[in-house]
Amino acid sequence: MKALTSVAILFMALFLAQCKSDKSGEQQLTPDEEKVYLEKGKAIAEATFTALSGKLTKAMEDGGVAGAVQYCNVAAMPLVDSLSKASNATIRRTSQKPRNPLDAPSEWETEILTSFQQMTAKGEKAMPRMKMLDNNKVAFAAPIILQPLCMKCHGTVGTDIAEADYTIIKKLYPKDEAVGYKPGELRGIWSIVFEK
Ligand code: HEC
Repeated sequence: MKALTSVAILFMALFLAQCKSDKSGEQQLTPDEEKVYLEKGKAIAEATFTALSGKLTKAMEDGGVAGAVQYCNVAAMPLVDSLSKASNATIRRTSQKPRNPLDAPSEWETEILTSFQQMTAKGEKAMPRMKMLDNNKVAFAAPIILQPLCMKCHGTVGTDIAEADYTIIKKLYPKDEAVGYKPGELRGIWSIVFEK
């Protein structure tokens, strides 16, 4: 009986240890590290989003969609360049329906996109989260929710997006999938990967 109990405990311990160490035996972050990276990620996503929205709003006022199309590109923002250098990170956005094919998601990004998608579809709030990747990399992901400001370029063609504007978008992005959204829907995620 005693032997049986010890075997049961051993199995239980092994099972718990496995749960903790994630599927591929990746290392885990300490709670302190997790907090630091989560805060860093949130700050970067927020600063970038504020700058991007400001630029987009101004460009839309000045020149409509035609004049603003180039401003929804975080890769082209000097702020993103300096933030990524300062924090030793890669900063990007990704989506299951990308406009720019370069923004297609990787495997871990798809996992998070799917889970955020399920949450927002149920009306739950998706919260930023962390994930350890291989090679000592720490990934941060946060949801990007569509807002009314975004509809003229990511809403429905013909109603929210003027046909003439969509012609311009399609010319620049022939593989565009990023339309048909409504405010409040998940448009994509911030994907920030830190070198640990
Ligand atoms: C003036 C048109 C315009 C507006 C307004 C606009 N976008 Fe975009 N969006 C684009 C273009 C063009 C791209 C492709 C940028 C690139 O080349 O990386 C894009 C790309 C994106 C991407 C990256 C994934 C992908 O599809 O390639 C996300 C996420 C995104 N937009 C979210 C938003 C959100 C959220 C808003 C509102 C705050 C918004 N956009 C407003 C035109 C727009």
